[in-house]
Amino acid sequence: MINEKVETALNEQIKKEEHSARLYLSMAIWCEVNGYPGAAAFLYDHTNEETMHQMKFVHYVNDRGGKAVLFNLEQPEGKFDSLMDVFEKVLQHEEYITASINSLYGLTVEEKDYTTGNFLQWYITEQIEEESLMRTILDKISLVGQDKAGMFHIDKELEGMAKNKGTATV
Ligand code: FEO
Repeated sequence: MINEKVETALNEQIKKEEHSARLYLSMAIWCEVNGYPGAAAFLYDHTNEETMHQMKFVHYVNDRGGKAVLFNLEQPEGKFDSLMDVFEKVLQHEEYITASINSLYGLTVEEKDYTTGNFLQWYITEQIEEESLMRTILDKISLVGQDKAGMFHIDKELEGMAKNKGTATV
């Protein structure tokens, strides 16, 4: 049976992953209607990735004899100033998720729930990759500034990354 405090914290993380999916969906919609189809494809793809993160937690909680719980979600932000603004917020959000996973890991150590600690290792590695990917994209966007041709190129690269998940580099 799973430790009760850990189960509660895992359920809070399920909510955060579900919110992440909706936040990226909202960003994808903004990109799609504002002339960035590649960024939209990338963020739609990332929406699915967040749902996968959520589902991994759901199955883990249930498999350990707990019960996954779904909460009400706040409306995700839907207005952005620019593509740069979108990806700044993606990075900020990923940093927030990293902090949340780390504190969850801390709780498993406190509670001596080493099985869940071990399970969380996958997320710890995933967060390093996610933050690094978003930083790379953000650096590219800041480099081109307001240059329209450069922005068009970045949008194309993002489209390629959505289709070649895990293999393409920015
Ligand atoms: Fe589920 Fe992008 O972290």
